[in-house]
Amino acid sequence: MLRAIYPGSFDPITYGHINLIQRASKVVDELYVAILNNVNKKYFFSCEERIKLTKDALKIFDNIHVESYSGLLVDYAKKNGINVIIRGLRAVSDFEYELQLANANRSLNKDIEILFLMTDTEYSFISSSIVKEVAKYGGNISQWVPKNVEEAIFKKIGNNNV
Ligand code: PNS
Repeated sequence: MLRAIYPGSFDPITYGHINLIQRASKVVDELYVAILNNVNKKYFFSCEERIKLTKDALKIFDNIHVESYSGLLVDYAKKNGINVIIRGLRAVSDFEYELQLANANRSLNKDIEILFLMTDTEYSFISSSIVKEVAKYGGNISQWVPKNVEEAIFKKIGNNNV
């Protein structure tokens, strides 16, 4: 059975993530969507909120598990007996960061393999940061995030006009 981890901050999940998750879930038997909870980082949504938003957005997929982790990704992988990590590449600009991340993880654990999927072009510019920024200025984000995420963002911002 092939199991893989799709890690990230998911602050919050977007259709770009979902595009990757949907496709990755077809090539592996079990996909673990792993949400990083870095206690030193200030997130827009709490860890519990990010888990709930992600779970609610992924209800339709049945071979996907949503969990949080803290500490090193390679330790989370080892603890769960998984040695495949999936990451997305939206554009060339992602490559340098992803190369650094992949090399760091492989340097920490040579059993880990990192596989990359190219985000479909219509989602290639979407990031959680852009979604939050546009929402803060009252822009339309409905084409970039699921309804539950859109509502949660505007609720947090204090603008319930969705
Ligand atoms: O969505 P992101 O923020 O680009 O995801 C980055 C993430 C969470 C995959 C990465 O920062 C991570 O796994 N951090 C955990 C700490 C770790 O393992 N660091 C060593 C590799 S850089």
